[in-house]
Amino acid sequence: MTAASSAATPAATAAPARPAELKVRIWRGSGEQGAFTEYRVARRDHQTVLDLVTEVQRTLEPTLAYRFACRVGMCGSCAMTVNGLARWTCRTHVSKVVGTDGRLEIAPLAHLPVIRDLATDMTAFFDKWARAQGRFHGRTTRHEDFARVSPATPERRAADAGIECIGCGACHGSCDVVRWRPEFLGPAALNRAWTLVNDVRDAARTERLRAVAGDAGCHACHTQGSCTERCPRQIAPTLAIAGLKRLVARAAVKGEL
Ligand code: FES
Repeated sequence: MTAASSAATPAATAAPARPAELKVRIWRGSGEQGAFTEYRVARRDHQTVLDLVTEVQRTLEPTLAYRFACRVGMCGSCAMTVNGLARWTCRTHVSKVVGTDGRLEIAPLAHLPVIRDLATDMTAFFDKWARAQGRFHGRTTRHEDFARVSPATPERRAADAGIECIGCGACHGSCDVVRWRPEFLGPAALNRAWTLVNDVRDAARTERLRAVAGDAGCHACHTQGSCTERCPRQIAPTLAIAGLKRLVARAAVKGEL
């Protein structure tokens, strides 16, 4: 390159240096008592938030309590609050959520009691699935042939749209109505009910509509959409709940509930 062309070329803008160390604030405590403690962890390529928590537990704080199982986004056990938002931590890369100052804050999933540190008690969450009749009620026995359901029918397509829920609780931890009214069945349980009312093999449709029609059921939803925004599986509980509202209203008008 000549001196002239070198002078005409704009100087390359250097990318801001990535901090070599992360400053991670992690919630420590039991029940409602606790506080954030800061840890310093080396920044690594392709590091997930769950990797970070695991590194803190293995090298700095052996008593840190948290939950995970599959590490590949299937079991739903690793959801936590990361910088104020519910996320599945095994599939959330640090690079996606960390600030330019290398800081990160990790807390337990919201709207559930804390057992210790980052581990929440999911009992109330799964009790809501039971209250919403989130269990399949078959009409046939194992001695009969498999039911054949076309994947192209509107009912099956509606069920399929919500069937991949992994029960992580990110939607429940993001729902303002759950925060205001803890008895609200919440987006995950109602989404499950929606998949089942659209399952033509199920025999408990009316009971299920009755279960979600109450004061803490689908009509308590304010359609704010936080659940749909935060679902890591791109499921839309907001649409499922809207569908339940329509079915409940129709059944009520017909005197079926
Ligand atoms: S550890 Fe299973 S979904 Fe994250």
